Amino acid sequence: MAKIIVLIGAPGAGKGTQARLLQERLGIPQISTGDMFREMKTLDTPLAREVQEIMASGKLISDDITYKIVQDRTSREDCRNGYILDGYPRTAVQAAQLEDLAKEQGFDIQAIEVDVPRDELMKRLTGRRSCSVCGEIYNIYSKESVSTRLATYDEQTKPLLDYYENSGRLGKVDGTGELEQIYTQLSKLVTG
Ligand code: AP5
Ligand code: MG
Repeated sequence: MAKIIVLIGAPGAGKGTQARLLQERLGIPQISTGDMFREMKTLDTPLAREVQEIMASGKLISDDITYKIVQDRTSREDCRNGYILDGYPRTAVQAAQLEDLAKEQGFDIQAIEVDVPRDELMKRLTGRRSCSVCGEIYNIYSKESVSTRLATYDEQTKPLLDYYENSGRLGKVDGTGELEQIYTQLSKLVTG
């Protein structure tokens, strides 16, 4: 049955990395709200500037703006057999909006937590990396921004784990170790 796979995890947990593997191997698209917002970087509009400022601070873009881009992206033809959401939903309001969208599109939702301990996340987030959109190498985020992102995750996104667990739609993978080992756990949940 076609479905929406929702990857939930703290910043740096490896959602994007695993979602891209799922996309390659299952042939359904990976949709990352973070990547879509980063793509707006090249635009010089008031909305793009606002998005950039909020992202730099580590806080979340408004639920309604985020919903619009998800609704728009998932209405494309390549999503007809389901899709992978990476970094969405991130708030209770977004989770409720996604329920309506899934109903409209005729998909079930399967949520999977990518679990990584805090000290490992800090290591990953304070290193250097290249932008998944433009390839540019950058010193990821300031310490303040990293702690704001983690605190935002704890306050607004972590409660979604209970939400999906309570409706019997949550699986979990250990997000530490080799990429292939993590992918094996993930694909068992997705295809099993
Ligand atoms: P977003 O782009 O979603 O960022 P994030 O989830 O906070 O963090 P990452 O994308 O860095 O983490 P990830 O879990 O994808 O890990 P990755 O695979 O890259 O969001 C950015 C911002 O956009 C938000 O702060 C917010 O402002 C806004 N935004 C986005 N979505 C929104 C929404 N729904 N609502 C409102 N605002 C929204 O891996 C991380 C690193 O670890 C990489 O270097 C990778 O190589 C490494 N790594 C991965 N797996 C492993 C492993 N197994 N072992 C060792 N290293 C690993
Ligand atoms: Mg990501």
